[in-house]
Amino acid sequence: MGEYFSIRWVDGMVRMLDQRLLPDEVVYHDYIHCSDIATAIRDMVIRGAPAIGVAAAFGLALTALSSSAKTTSDLIKQLDTSSVELKGSRPTAVNLSWAIDRINKVIELNAGMGLVQLKDRILVEAQNIYAEDVQMDYKIAQNGQKFIPNQANLIHHCNTGGLATAGIGTALGVIRLAHEKGKNVHVFIDETRPRLQGARLTAWELKQLGIPHTLIVDGASGYIMKNHKIDACLVGCDRIAANGDIANKIGTYNLALVAAAHGVPFYSAGPTTSLDLSITSGDQIPIEERPEEEVTHIQAHPITPPEVTVANPAFDVTPARYITAIITDRGVAYPPYTESLAGLKKL
Ligand code: MRU
Repeated sequence: MGEYFSIRWVDGMVRMLDQRLLPDEVVYHDYIHCSDIATAIRDMVIRGAPAIGVAAAFGLALTALSSSAKTTSDLIKQLDTSSVELKGSRPTAVNLSWAIDRINKVIELNAGMGLVQLKDRILVEAQNIYAEDVQMDYKIAQNGQKFIPNQANLIHHCNTGGLATAGIGTALGVIRLAHEKGKNVHVFIDETRPRLQGARLTAWELKQLGIPHTLIVDGASGYIMKNHKIDACLVGCDRIAANGDIANKIGTYNLALVAAAHGVPFYSAGPTTSLDLSITSGDQIPIEERPEEEVTHIQAHPITPPEVTVANPAFDVTPARYITAIITDRGVAYPPYTESLAGLKKL
């Protein structure tokens, strides 16, 4: 049960589950070049904010270990090139640049080391980032328990499970622990157009975990909230601004508005590595635009007239005023978020 993982370091290679093929096929690929990791992030072989941060860290470890540079300064130049390539792969989730900056800080602090030691140090840091992500997920799951009653009808958007992190997931990790503790949870899963992370990935994960669920189309959440007693909406986050605005999968904002209209609590769960206190509001979060084909096609089948005009923002920003609480590994932040998030970051 639940014996799958998004990413691992295995025998000097990076092993990743190809999430584009789920739920039809469970296929893992091994990567030995950082540029292939960058491509895998862009193509969404791996996705989810924490998971792509871990992938970027392992990507830099691959660059270091495979380098034939003869001097530390030449190695650092190669790592700079890889960092730029990785940072360009997906812009919205801050976890990606956070992980790259963390590895680069280690490089800066240890630039005087010999080549072999510096390479080892980079790998150790990447493995620490992986291990810490696993631990943060457990803490998020524990911190979120107080919001899940013994009988709970929940709505979840996108995929925030073990596929989206190195561990048990964020919002789905909260739900998973509630289920394991014997709570009677039922999850309404938004299908999450256009990439169908809900229909393909969350439904697959909840099936593996034996957690009761019902798949709905994204536009059904209003009807469901009107006609069922929904206890909470739980979503993840790709970046949390200092004022508590959150960027998350497109459609999250709509769900938050519907939840507010129905008086349903709306929780966002994420690790503190998704916190970006350098920006004062969500207006400053770069929103990724993805290819038109994701909208004009479903699983390679065209569904629109040719040459239709398309907009495909992959994320939206939910204003802090619609978020009841933000569940993190360091505790729960409540409004006013400017104070509570700054307090969590200091812990
Ligand atoms: O485009 P994706 O699938 O990478 O988007 C993922 C999300 O929006 C998740 O909700 C977010 O990364 C949090 S995952 C723990």
